[in-house]
Amino acid sequence: MSILHIDVYPAPVLKMKTEKILNIDDNIRQLAEDMLETMYKAPGVGLAAPQIGRSISLVVADPGEEGKTSPLILINPEIITHEGEACITEGCLSVPGYTAEVPRHQKIVVKAYTLDEKEVKLTLEDFPAIILQHELDHLQGILFIDRISRLKRSIYDRKFKKGTLNPS
Ligand code: NI
Repeated sequence: MSILHIDVYPAPVLKMKTEKILNIDDNIRQLAEDMLETMYKAPGVGLAAPQIGRSISLVVADPGEEGKTSPLILINPEIITHEGEACITEGCLSVPGYTAEVPRHQKIVVKAYTLDEKEVKLTLEDFPAIILQHELDHLQGILFIDRISRLKRSIYDRKFKKGTLNPS
């Protein structure tokens, strides 16, 4: 297991649409384990492959309650249905020093493959649903700062240029 380097905005890999994974092999299994370890260490609740410099369709997440881990590893995940609206303050390990509210769906159904090549369908609501929408956006080259208002984005861009964002 190893801790991976996390790429931050404006790294080009974060803007790229990822490739589907065709072979779930030992390299992918190792990468998923390393991503989970990297996410827990950060600490974060989700991490997508582009954030560690790999433009492939893999995300890890842990929406578990405090003190209880429930790691999720999803390969080629897709949102197949969604409903409702929800909004929480989001941050991102690749966008240090900034948080903002982002409009999301309240409930989603995600289809994905697991590490043992099984197709699964997960129904998620509220916090776990929002984490997964954020992580699946990464697979399309979309960051949460791409989904905020133009006004908020221009404030972000100004602070980024001036170097006055505050990573906590
Ligand atoms: Ni993120």
